[in-house]
Amino acid sequence: MAKSVVAYQKCISPACGAEFECRESMFKCPRCGDLLDIQYHWDQAKVPDKLSTFGERWARRDKPLDFSGVWRFRELLNFCPDKHKVTIGEGQTILQQNRAIAAHLGMKPESLFLQYEGLNPSGSFKDNGMAAAFSHALMVGAQSCACASTGNTSASVALYAHACGLKCTVFIGSGRIAFGKLSQAMDYGAQTIQIQGDFDDCMRQVQDVCEELGLYLLNSLNPFRLEGQKTIMYRIIEALGWEVPDWIVVPGGNLGNSSAFGKAFLELKQLGLIDRVPRMAIINATGADTLTDLVNNKKLVWNGGHVDQKIIDDYYAGLTARHFSPHTCASAIEISRPVNLKKCLRAIDVCNGVVLAVTDEEILNAKALIGKHGLGCEPASAATIAGLVHLLADGTVAKDARVACVLTGHTLKDANATVNYHKDRQGPFSNPPVEAPNDLQEIIKLIR
Ligand code: F0G
Repeated sequence: MAKSVVAYQKCISPACGAEFECRESMFKCPRCGDLLDIQYHWDQAKVPDKLSTFGERWARRDKPLDFSGVWRFRELLNFCPDKHKVTIGEGQTILQQNRAIAAHLGMKPESLFLQYEGLNPSGSFKDNGMAAAFSHALMVGAQSCACASTGNTSASVALYAHACGLKCTVFIGSGRIAFGKLSQAMDYGAQTIQIQGDFDDCMRQVQDVCEELGLYLLNSLNPFRLEGQKTIMYRIIEALGWEVPDWIVVPGGNLGNSSAFGKAFLELKQLGLIDRVPRMAIINATGADTLTDLVNNKKLVWNGGHVDQKIIDDYYAGLTARHFSPHTCASAIEISRPVNLKKCLRAIDVCNGVVLAVTDEEILNAKALIGKHGLGCEPASAATIAGLVHLLADGTVAKDARVACVLTGHTLKDANATVNYHKDRQGPFSNPPVEAPNDLQEIIKLIR
């Protein structure tokens, strides 16, 4: 690609490696069908030589791009001119040191951190990606957009589409979405199509619909979205005084986050802005554990980009043959054909990553633990702490290692999961309401 452009799209397959300009809009390599990456001519990207320069911008509340938790890192995702950049205040999220949960897990108290992405405008990490992807959508003149979703993508897309004046259609699996998320898509004015199927069915349909109708696709297949999600890692290291933690723990669904995080660290290392890359743990739910199965049992690896496609094809053929549909209480990660699988393998390679799956029971107990001692989160996010329990128990993660768990979605996204856990006494942290007669003395007795 000509050196006159800072950024370009590139097919991740080393056998293909086709390159395209960023003003082109496509979601897979038109030559070979593999995933696309955004690559940069770093010598032209004007990246500051000190990471602290990014942090200083945050003080400027009157400058929306400086204040945005995504765009204040703009030189690290330098694919679009400022005039197209979209922000609605995403990325004002915090890294909470959580001594109580650390103590509960038997860790050194100061070593556990929760990156709370529920503080985003639509209540999940997706807004980081949408700020970037909608900027690209405006750059290419898109008028209408679409996504498939387990809920959070649709909420975020609906919000940003409204902000950008794009028409928006979201595809969700019938009965597969938490109510908080469904309410957002409807409230923000998206056309909401409930498909009789699961997320993987929606994902297939939306790609064909986008192609047929020329809609701009906002799933994490869209490489520009992942550029925005890199900033979650920048903010974690910023909150640690620009130090890299030992571990990043992240839930695995469609594998956009893990892919973006691996790319973020790879680039920072290449740029000489960090001296080491953290390890990464990606946590599936046992009812949707394609990644875990493929990596731990089928030994699927990145292999310099030469991924053994036959292992994947055989695996998916097996899922189809037994009419497999994933099931977990963590509906956000109820996905069995993760579109970013190969990029995630790259991230595992870069970050010396590990993968494991946790049960719904473990997820719900971890969620209640986080609710009791932290900021609260939706079930998928709690897979991180549930996974960390295993990693501490088998010694993979040391008790004094600095660990940052990414809490991807707000607790109110799935209030049903929370209410049912407590009301139905589903676990050790259940805290159901106490029935009381309408009588002062009786009420006082209960409280004493
Ligand atoms: N956590 C939450 C709260 C999510 O909503 C998602 C994905 C994930 C984790 C998984 O992240 O796909 O990057 O591995 N939700 C998508 C959606 C699929 O449609 O809202 P991933």
